[in-house]
Amino acid sequence: MRIVSGIQPTGNLHLGNYLGAIRNWVSMQDSIEEQGGECLFFLADLHAISMPHEPAVLASNTREMVAALVACGIDPDRSTLFNQAQVPAHAELQWLLNGTARMGWLNRMTQFKDKSGKNREGASIALFTYPVLQAADVLLYQATHVPVGEDQKQHLELARDIAQKFNNDFASEEAPVFTLPDPIIPTEAARIMSLRDGTAKMSKSDPSDMSRINLTDDADTIMQKVKKAKTDPEPLPSEVAGLAGRAEAANLVGIYATLAGTTPADVLRDFAGQGFGAFKPALGELLVAKLAPINARFVELRQDRAALDAILRQGAQKARALAQPTLEAAYTALGLVRG
Ligand code: TYM
Repeated sequence: MRIVSGIQPTGNLHLGNYLGAIRNWVSMQDSIEEQGGECLFFLADLHAISMPHEPAVLASNTREMVAALVACGIDPDRSTLFNQAQVPAHAELQWLLNGTARMGWLNRMTQFKDKSGKNREGASIALFTYPVLQAADVLLYQATHVPVGEDQKQHLELARDIAQKFNNDFASEEAPVFTLPDPIIPTEAARIMSLRDGTAKMSKSDPSDMSRINLTDDADTIMQKVKKAKTDPEPLPSEVAGLAGRAEAANLVGIYATLAGTTPADVLRDFAGQGFGAFKPALGELLVAKLAPINARFVELRQDRAALDAILRQGAQKARALAQPTLEAAYTALGLVRG
C-alpha cells in the first residue's frame, strides 16, 4: 500500500480540509506501518501558481501549511512530507503525460470551469493542465490509494484514465509503467459546506473569512463564526429526512456529528425540537475543544522557520529517490534517450 495525497498551500487550513482529508491522512499514517506500506503527503505549490498569486505570500503559506499539517498529527519522520517545487520529477512527469492526456478529457473537468468562470480566455494554461500535474503527483510514486474529499474525485478518475492509456500505448500488460490509484473518500464529511451558503463548499478561495473555520482561528473567532453562520428559523428535526432542503442545517449537523464521532441521526436525537440558539453554542464549544490543541501546536511550530525548511528538505530528499525509478521508466517507455 502506498498512500499519496496533496494540499495547495494557498491559505489557511480550514475545517473542510481537516475533516474531508487531513484527519484521514493522520489515521492512515498511524495504521499503515502495520500493513507494511508508506505515506507521502505534499504541498501542491506548483498547482498554486495556476491562479494569480503573490510570491511572498505563497512562500509563507507553504511554511505555514507544513506547521499546520504537523500540528494536525502528520509526523515527518514516519510520513514523507515535502513540497512539489523541491521534487522536479513532478513537473517532468507532467510533461511526459501531456502527450497522453486528451483535450476532451480536460475540457470536462468541472474545477477548470468553476475557477475560470466567465474568463476562460484569460485563464492560465496551468489551470487547464492542472489535473495532468495532479495525475503525475500520484502516478510518480505508484500510489495505490489517494485520500481526498469529494471535490477531487473527478481529478482522480482522470489520473486513472491517463495511467491506463499510457500503459496501453507504451507498456505491456505484464509490466505496466503506472499503478492505477484508488481514491479514498470519507463517507462522512466528504463535503463540508460554507457557513454562509450551504450549497457552496467551504473553500480557501471564498472572499469571506466568515464562510469558513480556519484551524488558526482562536476560540472567540470560532464562536463568533458559528453564531453568525447562516441557518433557517425552523427547529432541528428528529430525523435525518427532516434535513432535506435545509442545506445549512444539514451542514452544521454533519460537522457536529463528524467532530463528535457519531452520526447525524444521533445528533438529531439529542437536539430534536431545539432551535439554533441552543445548537450553535454546543457546536461552537465542540469545535473549540477539538481545534484548540491543534491551534496551540500550530502557533508554536510556525515560529521556527529553519525547522520547517528542514522538514521540507528532508521530505524532498526521500521523495526524489522514490520518484526516480518511475520517472526513468516513463522516459524509456516513450522512447526518450537518457544517456
Ligand atoms: P485542496 O488544497 O483544495 O484541498 C486539500 C484536501 O481537502 C479536501 N477539501 C475538502 N473536503 C471536504 N469539504 C471541503 N469543503 C473541502 N475542501 C477541500 C480536498 O478534497 C483535498 O483532499 N488539487 C488538490 C491538491 C492536489 C492533490 C494532488 C490531491 C494536488 N495534487 C494529488 C491529491 C492527490 C487541491 O487543490 O486540494
